[in-house]
Amino acid sequence: MCGIVGYIGSGEATEYIFDGLKRLEYRGYDSAGIATITNGGIDRRRGEGKLVNLEKKLREQPLAGSVGIGHTRWATHGRPTEFNAHPHTDGSGKISVVHNGIIENYMPLKEELIEKGHRFVSQTDTEVLAHLIEDEFKDDLEAAVRAALKRVEGAYAIGVISTHDPDTLIAGRKSSPLILGLGDNENFIASDVPAILPHTRKIIYLDDEEIAVLTRSGATVKDLGGNTVDKKVETIEWNPVLAEKGGYDHFMLKEIFEQPQVIRNTIGGRTDEEHAKIYLEEMGLSVEDVKKLKHIYIVACGTAYYSGCVGKYMIEQLARVQVEVDFASEFRYRNPIVDESTLVIVISQSGETADTLAALREAKKRGARVIGIVNVKGSSIAREVDGVLYIHAGPEIGVASTKAYMAMLIALILIAIQFGRMRELVDVPEARRLIRELKRLPRLIERTLADVGNIQEIAETFFEARDFLYLGRGVNFPTAMEGALKLKEISYIHAEAYAAGEMKHGPIALIDRNMPVLCIATKSATYDKVLSNIQEVKAREGNVIALVTDGDEEILKFTRDVISVPETEEILSPIVNVVPMQLLAYYIALRRGSDVDQPRNLAKSVTVE
Ligand code: F6R
Repeated sequence: MCGIVGYIGSGEATEYIFDGLKRLEYRGYDSAGIATITNGGIDRRRGEGKLVNLEKKLREQPLAGSVGIGHTRWATHGRPTEFNAHPHTDGSGKISVVHNGIIENYMPLKEELIEKGHRFVSQTDTEVLAHLIEDEFKDDLEAAVRAALKRVEGAYAIGVISTHDPDTLIAGRKSSPLILGLGDNENFIASDVPAILPHTRKIIYLDDEEIAVLTRSGATVKDLGGNTVDKKVETIEWNPVLAEKGGYDHFMLKEIFEQPQVIRNTIGGRTDEEHAKIYLEEMGLSVEDVKKLKHIYIVACGTAYYSGCVGKYMIEQLARVQVEVDFASEFRYRNPIVDESTLVIVISQSGETADTLAALREAKKRGARVIGIVNVKGSSIAREVDGVLYIHAGPEIGVASTKAYMAMLIALILIAIQFGRMRELVDVPEARRLIRELKRLPRLIERTLADVGNIQEIAETFFEARDFLYLGRGVNFPTAMEGALKLKEISYIHAEAYAAGEMKHGPIALIDRNMPVLCIATKSATYDKVLSNIQEVKAREGNVIALVTDGDEEILKFTRDVISVPETEEILSPIVNVVPMQLLAYYIALRRGSDVDQPRNLAKSVTVE
């Protein structure tokens, strides 16, 4: 949600920043801008819409300078116009600011500044920050930034440049992500690692209420009181190539195809089939802790939430602990029944989702132990939980999440087996069988990926539909929800998911010959019931697309539009079944001409409430 890049070095700042913004465009893409220090002043270019518009402007009017800041925006306050695009400047034009987050008290601050004579030109909360720094400035830019940040409530990650101190780049953060990248006589700030991966893998993660003062030769981190803070320099293992499209048309397609490898990475070193063991020491839970468990909450948003819904089935089935799954945005406001005896599992790809972070803090405040299932190393959620299980999915750039969902499911099944073992409910043969089957999943998914032609044909048949219904039962009801979400997000087709047995209680009224109904009917304890649901749809002239297990001949009596997947254990089937859902959404969106990697109104990493 908004991407920030800053550069200080001897190269052309605009080139580094623009390249970084391209890699962060998934965070927001309704306007963008860059400012640099040049010829003793600050110059900037800004453009409405995607980065190509800014690129055009930069071609027509290049922007020189070796110190600069850039921003790609996902609008919160103020429409996505050029006027509201970052960077924003103060009244004197000597200070320029980019910002990700929301300044919650910007209105009273703005009124106060207006009274003092400041004139505002945009509707953004960010412009207030630029004026506030100007107001606090006496003769020390760093001190002015610290003083301004002390007055601000809400979330921020900022980059500041100023002609008052032209050889310095200042950064600061609270509740919005920001990293420093340390290069060779050049240094960077960015919202996320992929922005600077081509230039350095040496990273410092800023913590809340810290600022960084970057020069060409180094970076100093301080608290808001001005005291120097010792920070660890971390080395990122991600290979820059992982953040490229690698020959695929879209990141989303590349990420779907990466899933077999992602499963191997998430499992990597965590299982011992022979001894029926799972290693999840990172969670920091003893056998005693797990035996005592009475209640687990899984809390997350969007796709991560749906992975949690699958996790509920897995954990309840194998470990017999009651699991409640909650949207993070609901959990935090509904006075949840959580105390020291509750285990809370938060799930997040980015590790920065504001609602999830707030829910985690709420759970900790109430004394619960909180475990995170997280992709991005060093992210806020990863740092604040009591134990973190990294899913090792690698950078996920496509805005619609695919491979992270897959990796979350793997993490959840590992937890379920582990808890089942610890509670002596899963015996050695069962654990061995599940671990063996888990390791087979990459090959099963490779088979589905090798057969995309059939899914493309089905996409061709249905891409003009206005509405879609997705039906699933049991552990695959969440698969239906995730499938519907993928379709909505990238094709803009209205799609709803129902537990198949619920259809007759209302949604059946929607069914007619214009309504494609995707039914998940892979082998399961409720297969016959799903077949009955399919017949109910057919009886009302609905078009059924059936997802079945390889070799299912029965289904052909009801529909020609069949996608089949290899057989696996029912409890693992969501891992296999989600892949055709992702591909169907992708090919339908492609056929409709949507911008698959950057669907309208969305942004990866939702760092506002
Ligand atoms: C859907 C999607 C979103 C995210 C949600 C949570 O494709 O990407 O629904 O799943 O915003 O994000 P994280 O997992 O980063 O907390």
